[in-house]
Amino acid sequence: MVDYIKYTSEMANDWSKTWYDTKFERPWAFKRLLDSSTSSQMQSKLWLTTELQKLNLYHKKVAIIGGWFAHYITPLLIDNLKVDLVHNYDIDEDARLISCEFNRRYKKGGKYKVYGKNVFIDPIEEHYDMIINTACEHMFPMKKIKELNPALDAILVLQSTSETKYDDHINCVSSAEELSEQANLKEIYFSGSKVLHNGMTRFMVIGK
Ligand SMILES: C[S@@+](CC[C@H](N)C(=O)[O-])C[C@H]1O[C@@H](n2cnc3c(N)ncnc32)[C@H](O)[C@@H]1O
Repeated sequence: MVDYIKYTSEMANDWSKTWYDTKFERPWAFKRLLDSSTSSQMQSKLWLTTELQKLNLYHKKVAIIGGWFAHYITPLLIDNLKVDLVHNYDIDEDARLISCEFNRRYKKGGKYKVYGKNVFIDPIEEHYDMIINTACEHMFPMKKIKELNPALDAILVLQSTSETKYDDHINCVSSAEELSEQANLKEIYFSGSKVLHNGMTRFMVIGK
């Protein structure tokens, strides 16, 4: 079981600088940064890492869709699951810049990169072994990405919620089965749900 992030001195350096810079240079993004750093956020990313570790799937090159600040998920993928390359596709410029600061050590080493492309409009041009979307409640159903990329062979790792009280939760689901149907998964390696510390139910499916 993966139940913590490896908080190295390099990480402490990147993270403390990012918190400081965001507070003073991008104060409008500070509340969102706090929201992205809750215990529930950590729980959902540790859960994902734990299940991926159990499955022992091949995942050297990974894309994250809507990775947001990607400060929890990136070290878990690189340090725990030994992923070689993480690409975060996020349409929000603040998120991209802040995520690059959090992950500066990986970016410098060529392991982390961000893209502003909206992958629900344009095809993904690179090959990935795995595509992670832990923000499915914010987007169109994932089958749209399969339609835009007919040759896509990546393992999909998806999370969503049934919590409809937020305006930007435009695509909630009521079960893991519904989440898997939204992605038209033919092979399912994991399917489950978890009630997080914030009281919301999170669903996760892993499959193709
Ligand atoms: C609120 S955050 C993620 C919350 C989610 N609970 C999680 O832990 O991953 C949603 C992110 O998705 C991004 N986003 C929304 N629509 C997108 C799209 N079409 N393509 C890429 N990113 C998108 C937003 O910019 C934001 O950074």
